[in-house]
Amino acid sequence: MDDSVFLPRDLPMWQDAKPYLDVRNNDEHTIVAYGLARFLLTQIPEADESVVLPAILLHDVGWKMIPEDLLLLAIGRHPTRLDLVRDHELEGVRIAREILERHRPEGVDIDAVLEIIDGHDTVKEARSLNDAVMKDADKGWRCTWHGMRTIAGWYDVPLHEVLQMLRERSNPMMLTDAGRLYAEAQTATMAAELEIETFLGRAPEHGPPRRKEGKTTW
Ligand SMILES: [Fe+2]
Ligand SMILES: [Fe+2]
Repeated sequence: MDDSVFLPRDLPMWQDAKPYLDVRNNDEHTIVAYGLARFLLTQIPEADESVVLPAILLHDVGWKMIPEDLLLLAIGRHPTRLDLVRDHELEGVRIAREILERHRPEGVDIDAVLEIIDGHDTVKEARSLNDAVMKDADKGWRCTWHGMRTIAGWYDVPLHEVLQMLRERSNPMMLTDAGRLYAEAQTATMAAELEIETFLGRAPEHGPPRRKEGKTTW
């Protein structure tokens, strides 16, 4: 793998997508999910990277069109505004089409990319292998260290609650063997990490910055 997370083909689109991704850590989410998509593609070579990678890069640009104070009502454990989830998909398709048509990246089937951006959250099953890999990169992000920290921060909940949500509700949604294996390995090792304090009487020596006060353990 080359040095940068983004393929040179996709870099100009990242620059255009960035202004649409600066809400709810979507910019960070996109970088990490793109990296996970690249890994999943190494395990699932039958999937088409020229569809999966542009799709994961652009899939959440539509959140920018949703009023920021309503975002947490659309996601999380007890969402009350599921209509906004659909709205971000539709806005996402519109904005992604503009970006894709502006750049017309070589070898990328624009309609195929837009087809899997549409429905990426509201349609739970996989409509194609490309769709499955893209969805696993998106949902699998939750199980990255970055995803778990970010989710704990959004809701100000302790990590063990995030972990429980992932194991009960998110991991069963994984669609590919590689994606499921990744997600379950991540949650298993995080569960073990959370027991370091139980067995050693102290927090792990190295790790992300921890809050001094409050109930979160990060
Ligand atoms: Fe989304
Ligand atoms: Fe996403």
